[in-house]
Amino acid sequence: MLLKDARGDAVSGATAEALDAFESALAGFQCYAGNPLEHLDRAVAAAPDFTMAHVMRAHLLLAGSEAAAISPARDSLAKVRPAAMTDRERMHVTAANDLADGRFDAAAEHFENILLAHPRDALALQMGHLIDFYRGDSRNLRDRVVRVLPAWTSTTPGYHALQGMLAFGLEECGDYASAEEIGRRACDLNPRDAWAHHAVSHVLEMRGRTEDGISWMRTRETHWSVDNFFAIHNWWHLALYHLDRDEIAEVLKIYDERVRATTSVVVLDMVDAAAMLWRLHLRGIDVGAARWREIAEVWAPLADDGFYSFNDVHGMATFLGAGRDDLVERQLSTLRRVAGSQGCNAAMTREVGLPVAEAMVAFARGKFDRTVDLLRPVRNFANRFGGSHAQRDLVDLTLIEAAKRGGQVSLVRALAAERLRAKPQSPIALRYLGFANERRAA
Ligand SMILES: [Fe+2]
Repeated sequence: MLLKDARGDAVSGATAEALDAFESALAGFQCYAGNPLEHLDRAVAAAPDFTMAHVMRAHLLLAGSEAAAISPARDSLAKVRPAAMTDRERMHVTAANDLADGRFDAAAEHFENILLAHPRDALALQMGHLIDFYRGDSRNLRDRVVRVLPAWTSTTPGYHALQGMLAFGLEECGDYASAEEIGRRACDLNPRDAWAHHAVSHVLEMRGRTEDGISWMRTRETHWSVDNFFAIHNWWHLALYHLDRDEIAEVLKIYDERVRATTSVVVLDMVDAAAMLWRLHLRGIDVGAARWREIAEVWAPLADDGFYSFNDVHGMATFLGAGRDDLVERQLSTLRRVAGSQGCNAAMTREVGLPVAEAMVAFARGKFDRTVDLLRPVRNFANRFGGSHAQRDLVDLTLIEAAKRGGQVSLVRALAAERLRAKPQSPIALRYLGFANERRAA
């Protein structure tokens, strides 16, 4: 007789002690808190044949969108005993292998198939949600969660995480009022849920509610910033509000003391750093050679990976900022190689990653009309290379600044109008509009 996890799904190879450690790992993952891998180490120490402990370890490693994780993830999957698996576990292994092979679409589908049969499989749901995020699949960020709602009640363990994911999905679909209400409720259920917290942060970002945003982050700081492996991204969100308010000294303070304080080599953290420096660069702010050099150096070993084009574009930003032409060329040749290959990331690279990277190169070299020409066709489907609306604003910000520097006044005015619809008080959007109106008047 197989044991069942806290949501009622059978698990093979577990003992009560190991299952307890697995549940601790899952609870940590649901809040992005603590060190879930340590709990999984305990689980496999107690029960070496515990399939889901090995599988979850692989999932967690692969959830970081790093090529370096592929080998250790495969090591974990190699410890699974095929004869002992349930159908659900077999699908998890298949999904993990797809992720390791860069077949993000196939992995997303396998997680969906698991959820059709096992809608309370919280790990499949969260992994599917993250893959939807990495593919910029707004609809499924919301609807993958919606589809399992009938199988959950408020007493199902991890219900806060379900609500937090729903809130983020609603936000990415533009349903800001529902997203905020559900996200806040999820944070009430579990104040440590950093994803639910983050969903509300996104709502406030998208609406330009910078004062509310800063208050939301600061009053809840101990919940999301302590012992949390999503903290740097949430610090980045706090810095974004300050950037929107032209509080550049505060942005740099958060960058130095939080975003890069640990000189993290976790790619997701490096993306945030690159994104913030590039935004400052677009504003004409000199962040200094040392900041660019530090972040470019940690990106350098990844320049040949070509695992995920969203990351590659952020690496490119740092190479350009640091003036590392050698790395710019290496990153470009990686993107071109991947664009000419097959698979999910190849399509992302071909359609979005490569043209965006080339546009950034053109911008850095003062070829602003070329930047505009490259970005205008791409911007409307830039979601295909993943990330959130807030992250992909990098594309729109690069475009409007290139249009300004290239003297394309009508385009600046049109793009400023877009920005002001979402954020009527945004100082930067108002400045772009003012620039365009002045030029037209002249
Ligand atoms: Fe975010």
